[in-house]
Order: sequence, then structure tokens, then C-alpha cells
Amino acid sequence: MKIKILKPVTAIAIAMLFTACNNVPAAVVTDTVPEIQNTTTSAPAEITTVGETTVDEAMFEGKEYRLPATYETLPNLKDVFADDFYLGTAINTFQLEEGTDTYNLALKHFNIFTTENEMKPVYVNPSEGVFDFAAPDKFIAFGDANPDAILRGHTLVWHSQAPEWWFKGSGEGGRATSDELMARMTEYINTTVGRYKGKIKYWDVVNEAFSDSTGQLRQLHEQSYWAPIIGDLDGDGDEYDFIEQAFYLAREADPDAKLIINDYNLEQDPRKLNGFYDAVKSMLEQGVPIDGVGIQAHIQLEWPSIINFKMAIEKLATLKEINPDLIIQVTELDVSMYAWSDQSLTVDMNAENETKLAVRYADLFDMFREEAAKGNLETVVMWGFYDGMSWLNDYPIPGRTNHPLLFDRDLIAKPAFWGVVDRTKIDAAVEEE
Ligand code: XIL
Repeated sequence: MKIKILKPVTAIAIAMLFTACNNVPAAVVTDTVPEIQNTTTSAPAEITTVGETTVDEAMFEGKEYRLPATYETLPNLKDVFADDFYLGTAINTFQLEEGTDTYNLALKHFNIFTTENEMKPVYVNPSEGVFDFAAPDKFIAFGDANPDAILRGHTLVWHSQAPEWWFKGSGEGGRATSDELMARMTEYINTTVGRYKGKIKYWDVVNEAFSDSTGQLRQLHEQSYWAPIIGDLDGDGDEYDFIEQAFYLAREADPDAKLIINDYNLEQDPRKLNGFYDAVKSMLEQGVPIDGVGIQAHIQLEWPSIINFKMAIEKLATLKEINPDLIIQVTELDVSMYAWSDQSLTVDMNAENETKLAVRYADLFDMFREEAAKGNLETVVMWGFYDGMSWLNDYPIPGRTNHPLLFDRDLIAKPAFWGVVDRTKIDAAVEEE
């Protein structure tokens, strides 16, 4: 198949059009696939619905920050944890324009970067035969220009933000057959991982494959076509085959990249953790090249407990009995100020709440340090660094303003920043606000 690289402008227009139309999970195809049922998932289960990106690019045009006043004197977060773990952030390429405040701030504090949206298949492979690498290439150029910056690729196989055409084909009800979907996955992984061979150090090869309600593989009623279509290829009685194939293909396309299986709620839902754990264990025992597990960690101010999170890390670390080099990463950390389905649209960030958030971050990072010292945690990536860029401003409750990150909307370090760096400075930081 001939691969056509789109010109950036066309590509952006297509991506925007798709985003604008795309208020349902990307993998829900059309009415021609009758098996799909509408389900109501219980909180805090579903966090995968795709909406418009919450980043408001226009917000930064011509805006002057107070950045220079405070910025130079702040400790660099990545240096604070240099002996513990890599510290990273999700990012979009428009935030990486050289010389901008966001570029400077990101490079000052973080040493590992994940593309928030731009390397998702719905943007990279929007239609058959069309690959658009404009944004991913920019991300790679950023890595080339900053050799100390480690790049994570996010993500290859996911039920959400995957192009609809992948799941359509000559099968029953207009659905793709197992062979068709495997061919698309193979082409995608070969093309994308192959293109960035040696450049992307970690790939989130499979994302969110497990069900919240059962811990088993996600099925049609949870918007995933992967297991239902691909099925049990090797006849061993399980349907992990799409995951296994994705890892084998990624390994072949870039033998040096570290391959991660990533999911959410692992830190707070034992059912999900156990299902995920059993599946990874079984695949590792069969020699599937899984190098690491990713705990997304989209958590809340008061949920889960630090001890729960710690126990989840320690449980996953027992998989090192099978793969002694297994990597554990926190891949998408943010701390919502709201309970999952809280319908309020604002929260007063008064001294009490700023302090609570800062203490929450302090407790979390203390625990991360302890786990890193035991060899159980290699990387912590935050899902953004300033509140204005967080997806949680619109999700899961549209229009709900959130404050989940370490820098505020003006890029000023919040008391939470000091919670991460030095908890004895929280009170002074709150007073200064
Ligand atoms: C989110 C992005 O942050 C949003 O901008 C986008 O609209 C939807 O996806 N789990 C993941 C991430 O693995 O890819 C999601 O990112 C957040 C949940």
C-alpha cells in the first residue's frame, strides 16, 4: 500500500474536523454494527471518551506571563528527583515552539515527554493509506534538539482515538474481519514505530485494554472492538492475542524501544488491578515482550489512599519474578479537585484547598520516592504541567474548571509545586498567594 504523507495544513484541517465531530468514543463505528449497546458506567470508571482537546492554543497568543520574575529561582523538578526517577509531562507540539514560556518551563522541569494527543492513531492514520506525521515529526525534532529529553510515544493500540475505518470492513454487519484488523494494526505499528526507531524510548503499545467492571478484556459494550474482532488467534483459550501481536510487532519494528502496557484505575480498583495483573503475568510467562507497565494515575484529591496506590505498585513489582527488568511507570498523573461525578463547575482555590492539594502531592511524591528506592518505580509522568492545559477542565463534566497540576494558568508555581519539592515550604507558599 502506498503511504501518502499529508501536507501539514491539510493534515491539521482534517484533524480539526475529526476532533470537532468526534464527541463519542472513537471506536464506536456506526449503526451498521448492531452489537454496540449504550451503557452507563459507574463512576469513576470510564475516562476514555474523546472530546475536543482541552488545550486552548489561542489562550497563549500575545499573553505576557509573570514567568521571568519567579522562574529562574525555582528548583528544577527533574533535578530534585534526579536520583529517584525520570520526571515528565504530557505535551503538545505547539507548546514546544523554541523560546516560548511553555517550552522553557517544560525543559527546565522535565526530562521525559509524552505527546498528549498528536501520536494517537486517529490523527496519524485518519483514513486508509494516509499517514500524517507532521506533528509527531515535530516532537521528534524537539527530541533531536534536546538530547537529554526522553520521548514516550502514546499510543498504538487503544479503543479510543483510533480511526473508525480500522474497525469497518467485509465482516458481519460491516465490521472488519480479524485478518483485516490485524493487517491494519500491523501496517500501523510497522510504519509508525519503524519511522521513529531509535528516537522514541518508550511506547505505550496497548492502552486501556481492560474492563472496569470485570477486570477482564474490554468488550463491545465498553466500546472496544479489539478482542471481539481479533479473537483467539493461537487457540490457547484467551483473547489476549491482539495485545500479544502488538507487542511482538513493536519489538520487531524497534528492538531497543521499551514497550509498555498502560491502564487507568490500577491504583484504586482492585478488580481492575487483579485482571490487569493476571493478564500481564500470563503474557510474560509466555514470553510476550512486555518491558513495562504504566499506571495512568488520574486520581483525585481524596481518592484513592496513598497506601492503596503504594500496594498497587508493589503488587505489579512482583511481576519482576518473571521479568526481572520490568519497568513500572506512572504515566499520566493528575489530581482532580473534584470527586468523579461532582456536578459543580467551580471550586474555590482558597488557602485550605491549595494546602490540601499541596499536601496530597507531597504524600504522593514521598511514596514515589520510597518505591523508587526499592527499584519499583522508574518514571513519573504528569498529564500536563499547568492547569490551563488540563483535559480535566472539560472531562468528565463539560465546563468544570479544574486545578489538578503544579503550575497555575499563568504558569506560576502553585503551593502544590512546593509540596512536591519540599513540604516544609507549603505554608509560606500558600500565604504568598
Ligand atoms: C486525553 C487528552 O488529554 C485529551 O486532550 C483528549 O481529548 C482525550 O484524551 N487516558 C489516556 C490519554 O491514555 O490519552 C487521555 O488523554 C486521558 C486518559
